Amino acid sequence: MFARSAARALKSQSRQFSSSATRQSKVAVLGAGGGIGQPLSLLLKLNPHVTELSLYDIRGAPGVAADVSHIDTGSEVRVPRLRPHSTSHVHAHPHRTALIQVRGYPADKLDQALEGTDVVVIPAGVPRKMTRDDLFNTNASIVRDLAAAIARVSPKAKVLVISNPVNSTVPIVSAVFEKAGVYDPAHIFGVTTLDVVRAQRFLAAVAGTDPKNVKVTVVGGHSGATIVPLLSQTPQGKSITGEAYEKLVHRIQFGGDEVVQAKEGAGSATLSMAYAGARFTGDILRALNGEKGVVTPTFVKSPLFAEQGIDFFSSNVELGPNGVEKIHGLGELSEQEKKLLEACLPELKKNIEKGKKFVQQS
Ligand code: NAD
Ligand code: LMR
Repeated sequence: MFARSAARALKSQSRQFSSSATRQSKVAVLGAGGGIGQPLSLLLKLNPHVTELSLYDIRGAPGVAADVSHIDTGSEVRVPRLRPHSTSHVHAHPHRTALIQVRGYPADKLDQALEGTDVVVIPAGVPRKMTRDDLFNTNASIVRDLAAAIARVSPKAKVLVISNPVNSTVPIVSAVFEKAGVYDPAHIFGVTTLDVVRAQRFLAAVAGTDPKNVKVTVVGGHSGATIVPLLSQTPQGKSITGEAYEKLVHRIQFGGDEVVQAKEGAGSATLSMAYAGARFTGDILRALNGEKGVVTPTFVKSPLFAEQGIDFFSSNVELGPNGVEKIHGLGELSEQEKKLLEACLPELKKNIEKGKKFVQQS
């Protein structure tokens, strides 16, 4: 199953990237030895935009790096080269193929892992046994400390937060950057792509179609009632009503529970999350490399509900060379979606405030 996901991700990445030359992009994965970190590192090794992959964990990262580095993928890199020329212009050399550098860093080498990174992806921390909020005590300090190191060593990196509870960990990373005086809200993202992936997969099953024909926007946050799928905005979703609609929304909001229960205490979603994380990282890299029109839902500092004291929110975001380029509004909502949003906002507000308070008190 994983092999199929990986092949699909590779195929779609190759499709997206085949015509474009790339600049060099160094990507770091913090938590690379974990259930998500390992397959995510594998998928990133397959992404032609990644020219350097830096794998860090408090345990096991050098082993993951050695393993992943044997994969025989290279990368098309455009290399600017100074050539002797009568007018001394700089010429871009057309292309050369380079092997992706993969390095693994042990616990005491975080700064080295972060040096010169363009993108840092964080799947470090513990997975849940009960609710995502239970993870707060452990993961809040892990994410805070990693964010402090990024702010110090690589303050301009785009930071992609996977560690739960995302509704709180993104405000934590943001507050740490703010404290360090290097905060740019356009650079920090909560990865909510798994909600989109699930919504598309589950809706496709109900509609009896291929998921590739289905595009669902999911807004709000990343846990239970804060996950708001906008099914009325899709051709396949708008005709689903009554009990079928309720069941579908519930499955999207609580899809994580299905995996936690099926794994019987051994963890939460890892493979589907690695796929989703690689997909979102791929979107960020395409935008950093100048591709226009890359739009996807992600949890960012947002003005949409700021007047109600909710200053982080996931909605469709256009990505660009500096990260967040434009935050889209929600569009037209059905009466049911307005109700879902009403239920989302107070819970999201509490989660965000919890994250901010944690950094204030640290
Ligand atoms: P895991 O326990 O398998 O892996 C976590 C890894 O983090 C481990 O290898 C551990 O050594 C490492 N780690 C712990 N402290 C660290 C530190 N200070 N620095 C670097 N690495 C550190 O867990 P997992 O299943 O990979 O899940 C990781 C996180 O992702 C969890 O918080 C989980 O809830 C979250 N998650 C988020 C989503 C999402 O949609 N955003 C989806 C699935 C899981
Ligand atoms: C998910 O949605 O699968 C993740 O957030 C992991 C979890 O705790 O459910």
